[in-house]
Amino acid sequence: MESVLELDKAKPTILKIGGSVITDKNGELAARTEVINRLAEEIQKANVQRLVIVHGGGSFGHPTAQKYGIKEGLREDAQKIGFAETHHVMTVLNGLVMDSLVWHSIPAVSIAPSSCVITENGRIKTFDDTALKRLLAMDFVPVLYGDAVLDEKLGFTILSGDQLVAYLALKLNAARVVIGVDTDGLYDADPKTAKNAKLYMRLTLSELETVKSKLAGSSGVDVTGGMLGKINELTPVIAQGIPVSLVNAAKPNRTYKALIGDAAEGTVIKKE
Ligand code: IPE
Repeated sequence: MESVLELDKAKPTILKIGGSVITDKNGELAARTEVINRLAEEIQKANVQRLVIVHGGGSFGHPTAQKYGIKEGLREDAQKIGFAETHHVMTVLNGLVMDSLVWHSIPAVSIAPSSCVITENGRIKTFDDTALKRLLAMDFVPVLYGDAVLDEKLGFTILSGDQLVAYLALKLNAARVVIGVDTDGLYDADPKTAKNAKLYMRLTLSELETVKSKLAGSSGVDVTGGMLGKINELTPVIAQGIPVSLVNAAKPNRTYKALIGDAAEGTVIKKE
């Protein structure tokens, strides 16, 4: 087993589970409960000390957010029910995730970003992390998600799970970040549409910069930017010396292996 990471046990690991993994992104409100259960099992088995989980919206958050133009901000009162609905469907998906984690004996505690984050033009401006830090110190597993949040300039907007992951990784000085996606890692083109797309196994920050220009957005309804958006968010994290692994969480055991530090499958991006 190749162990690529010398982990400082006191530093947290941040795990993002993409919405396209735990939901069917081409449907509406279509949760993949069997995948959620399998991932809970893998997370339990990996038994990572100090773990923060962030999950995406998939076919819960994105279609509702898009229907009401939530990301673009408040323009008319009729959007308010859309903001409420977007947040609500995210809590429904989060409930399914929490159900699974807790019944797998993981001491997971949900934190709603809409209650502790304020953005400014879509970027996190304030984050009240008092409870989150205390939960972590007590060995709970805080669980957050992409959400509809209040914004100082826009009224409200959509906060992606990826921005949240990057913010938390830097703020909590994470040991590493594991991103569970529905492809085998980072390709030089969208593997769902480009047949000859090439998978990168290891990348440095400078190599990543050249790869960025080749990246295409992911398929389906995604209001928060697809793979390129993800990589752009994570670049400052990698620059800070925090390694980022991209693994196929739709395939059994990949997330488990990444969590225990086995980087055999997927893409690992490090500063150098
Ligand atoms: C989106 O979160 C949340 C909403 C649209 C409310 P993400 O952007 O992290 O979701 P995925 O992983 O792309 O589905």
